[in-house]
Amino acid sequence: MLIRALGHDDAATYHALRVRSLREHPEAFGRTPEEVDPVDAIARRLAENLGSDADFLLGAFDGRALVAASGCHREQGVKHRHIGYIWGVYVAPEVRRTGLGRKIFEATVERARAWPDLEQLWLEVTTINTSARALYRSCGFRSVAVKTASLKLGDRYYDEEFMVLHVRGPAALSGRPRRIDYSWLRRALAVAALRMRGQASPRKLWRRWRAQRSMRSSRGSAQRTVWGG
Ligand SMILES: CC(C)(COP(=O)(O)OP(=O)(O)OC[C@H]1O[C@@H](n2cnc3c(N)ncnc32)[C@H](O)[C@@H]1OP(=O)(O)O)[C@@H](O)C(=O)NCCC(=O)NCCS
Repeated sequence: MLIRALGHDDAATYHALRVRSLREHPEAFGRTPEEVDPVDAIARRLAENLGSDADFLLGAFDGRALVAASGCHREQGVKHRHIGYIWGVYVAPEVRRTGLGRKIFEATVERARAWPDLEQLWLEVTTINTSARALYRSCGFRSVAVKTASLKLGDRYYDEEFMVLHVRGPAALSGRPRRIDYSWLRRALAVAALRMRGQASPRKLWRRWRAQRSMRSSRGSAQRTVWGG
């Protein structure tokens, strides 16, 4: 199986594969088959892609047949150039579960990673798409948000999940999104426990701390109300 970037001459075969993917999996993609660009527009875009550091589309060939695809697009604006979006991941049903999905997806991530200054890769996946979500998670992508009922097919709605992979930059240091640091709370409870000289259980301390915190915040909001008026 050969995986390579698609160019001008692949436009017609890619058009057919893309239409097929949207017909077979309307709930997995954001476009309808009727919204696929015509072959000549795809050909122009694929010709522009070669050598660009903002767009590419990979294809996998079984002999001469195009059987899988996966694309990546990078924003051009100065403030968003560090983000790339993976789109159009698709493997034809007859070659699924052979490892091809992983191969073409990993090749997409690696190629995008080589773009200068790229820091994050984003993608969207319907929450019911267990196979694609498992693939993305196993490649290090993490869920950061869910767009409720963002895909509408007739009278059915689907939620879409935003997933991100930090390829470099501050959040990539651990290879996963930063976790909330609760060590300050542990320290506060330990100090409170010392003050109580072991007379109160952690549960009681926790309740007391929450009560004090809500009193503090209600005092704060009362002040804000006065200042606002
Ligand atoms: C998602 C898709 C690309 C996976 O392609 P594939 O060639 O079958 O994937 P692979 O054989 O390389 O498997 C890769 C991983 O995907 C996951 N996966 C694939 N099929 C799965 C299934 N039926 N159930 C659960 N997990 C599955 C697994 O994590 C698997 O890793 P593993 O083999 O180590 O368990 C393919 O099913 C597809 O094209 N689906 C329709 C279009 C689509 O949903 N695209 C994604 C849009 S966001």
